[in-house]
Amino acid sequence: MNIVIIAGSNRKSATSTHLAEYIAKLIRQRNHQVTWIDLYHSPLPFYSSDQSYAEIAAVTDFKHAILQADAVVLASPEYHGSISGVLKNALDFVSKDHFSGKAVLSISSAGGAVGISSLQQLQAIVRNLHGINAPEWISIGGSQRKSFEASLDVYEVSQDIDDRIHRALGAFLELARLVRG
Ligand SMILES: Cc1cc2nc3c(=O)[nH]c(=O)nc-3n(C[C@H](O)[C@H](O)[C@H](O)COP(=O)(O)O)c2cc1C
Repeated sequence: MNIVIIAGSNRKSATSTHLAEYIAKLIRQRNHQVTWIDLYHSPLPFYSSDQSYAEIAAVTDFKHAILQADAVVLASPEYHGSISGVLKNALDFVSKDHFSGKAVLSISSAGGAVGISSLQQLQAIVRNLHGINAPEWISIGGSQRKSFEASLDVYEVSQDIDDRIHRALGAFLELARLVRG
């Protein structure tokens, strides 16, 4: 399967992005293709329904990648009990044409113990886009973010978080397989 991962932070060394990189690595190990979209490295303009973006490669590439996906992973920092502005803005460019019938795994990083609010917000957006929310989600919060502050090569993910990541990822990939065949 082709899994699109959208890293939804515009912070350079975001822990949510590092968590998404770790998940990308696990997905590749399971012999699936990963299409990586990092909104820090590939920022999008502010969405306006008054404007046409047909000539703007960053936007057309973003929409095309999701259209081609079998399933999607959305990663966000928890900001004010919600998702990041850059991820919400990016998702405003797409519609049910891009998400309909696709499994979606939501993951987040929060300063507090658990980033439930951003995950709930993401799942509401996925519902509105006619995507299919994975049965589990992944939150790293508080001191759990320590493992993801370093770069990909030196992650030391504690066993309990790693078990949770593998369980949620397994359920997501199984759902994606069932709905995409
Ligand atoms: C504007 C802003 C709002 C935030 N709001 C919350 C919040 O509501 N709840 C929370 O637990 N942490 C909050 N935080 C802390 C971030 O969730 C935390 O630093 C997180 O690790 C950021 O993810 P990142 O490493 O991917 O950037 C906020 C941080 C910023 C900059």
